[in-house]
Formats: sequence, C-alpha cells, structure tokens
Amino acid sequence: MKLNQNGNESNYEECTASASASTANLGPGYDIFGLGLDVLEDIVTVKIKKRAVKSKNNLKIIIKGDEAESIPKKPEANTSGLVAKKMIAEYNLYNYNFLIEIEKNIPAGYGMGSSAASAVATAVSIDSLFEFNLDQIKLMEYSAEGELASAGVKHYDNISGAHFGNFVIVKTYPKLDFINIKSPKELILVVCVPTINVPKKKTEISRAVLPKKIPLQNIVYNMSNACSLVAGFYKGDVQMICDSINDCIIEPYRKKMIPGYDIIKNACLQEGAMAFTISGAGPSTIAFMNTKKTALHISKVMREEHEKLGIGCKTFLTKPSSGSRILSLK
Ligand code: HSE
Repeated sequence: MKLNQNGNESNYEECTASASASTANLGPGYDIFGLGLDVLEDIVTVKIKKRAVKSKNNLKIIIKGDEAESIPKKPEANTSGLVAKKMIAEYNLYNYNFLIEIEKNIPAGYGMGSSAASAVATAVSIDSLFEFNLDQIKLMEYSAEGELASAGVKHYDNISGAHFGNFVIVKTYPKLDFINIKSPKELILVVCVPTINVPKKKTEISRAVLPKKIPLQNIVYNMSNACSLVAGFYKGDVQMICDSINDCIIEPYRKKMIPGYDIIKNACLQEGAMAFTISGAGPSTIAFMNTKKTALHISKVMREEHEKLGIGCKTFLTKPSSGSRILSLK
C-alpha cells in the first residue's frame, strides 16, 4: 500500500500487528538466548495521516488492555514511542501524524518481554505502512530502541523471540545477527508471575546488580551449558535443552530479588520440572518440561509454594510461539 496514493489525506491509514511474550537468557545465555511464548501478546495499531506542515510533535500514544495502567504514555518514555521516534527521525516522517494504539496484555516489568512485544509490533507496523521492506536486522535494530525505556540499554533477546518466534540465538559481535531454531514440539513451559511490586525501570535495576567482572571458570561453566543448550534445540532434544539450563553468573545475584526463589525452584525440580530458571530479568520464573500433565502439576506446585510464602502469583502454561504477525493493513 502506497501512502496517500488516492490523494485522500483525511483518513488515517493503519496497520495492526501482534507480537508475543518471550523469555530471555534461558539460564546460561544472558542477552544471547530468546524464546517466543505463545501465551500472551501485545497488539499495536499504528495510524498515520499526512499533514500539511512538518512537526516534531507528531506522535500520540493510547494504551488499552489489562496492563494499561502501568505504562507511560509519553512517547519518549514509552517502548513503542521510542521505536516510532527513531523511525520517524531516520526516515524524516515529520509530515505525518502518528497515532499508536497499544493493547497491552503482557504484564509490564515482570520478565515476560512485555516491552519487546510492543516494540516489535510497532516496528513491523511502521515498516508495512510505509513499505520500507526492512531486512530482519534493521527491524530488530529499530525494535531494540524500545528496550531503552525499561532496560536503559538495547538488548535483542526478547525482541528476537517476540519477532521470530521459537528459539533465537542473538549474535551481537562483530555484527548483529540472529539464528532462529525451531523448538521441539514436546517442549512445554510454565511461567510464574509473582504478585509483587516491581520498580519502574526494573530491567535496568536488575542489570545493575550484576557483577562487572566474572571469574574465567564461571564463563567456561556458562559457555559449556549455552553450547549444549543450542545443540539440544538443533537435535530437538528436550532433555538436552533442560540439562543445559544452568547459570552460575546471573542467577546468584538476581534470585535475591525474587522472594522464595530457591524454595520454589527446588520444589519444582523435585516435582518433575526438567529445568527451572529466572525468566529474563525476573521476577517471573520459568519451568521447562515435556508433557502437559507435568506442566499442570508444576503450575499447581508453583502456586502452592507461593501461597506458603504468603505471595500471590499467576501461572501460565505455554508453548513456544511462532513469531510476530501483521493482523491488518488498510
Ligand atoms: N537479557 C535481558 C536481561 C533480558 O537479563 O537483562 C531482560 O528481559
């Protein structure tokens, strides 16, 4: 669709896209591994209308949905706003009014890739509306702008999980690249979101607690697990994947921010979860297994353990997702 090709400037043209929740790191792969989750998705509609005069004040954001309350609406503090602002600046789109409507369904600030989903759906929508036909790397670069709102830095693991779906390896050096691997069909996950307050810019805070220097043997430990995790996805071997979800670098620091982490982890592993780790920057946790029956049981165990601790929680059973989608373009 070309912009204003029929000369009608009074109507908005619009694109609606969805992108799913995601989990990042999967234990040993801090900022490297992403996995799309088909449990919840954010839906973003970008509306554009040509204007007579160029203006830098051309972007408005409306947020709807269960999670709307917790999201900043100012474009410079909003995930979608940051993505749109970057694309507007780079393509000199100041002669358009942008209205972005976000249906926010993924809890924000809990480690389920909420900001990534909105960012990806925004980048994909703008790309489609203007027929930029951006390559995947460029799309990811724009989407990563959104992570500045919550993490203070760009990281690509959640956005790549939300965009490509399934399992993604993010290669950042010497240049950005993504390797997308299908998940074994038996893989099933339970995400547990504790009902605790999270600070604004939670990801930035939970990155700040991490050590700046890491002993070499810890790097070897995580790298060996990261390599076997990748091998597990290539072989479609859930056991190998789960045996590789071990992390001695990040988990010891971040688990202190998650009430009852060790108790809940031990209970889940004893009750049949094949692996358990922090989802992204937390405080959500995620358990891995290969049958729905076990997943239902683990979900119950998670809720019971939280109840014993006097903390509420929500649990979600999920399979890996299949990536972002354009829902409509008109
Ligand atoms: N890799 C990022 C982090 C994911 O752990 O900070 C944030 O969801």
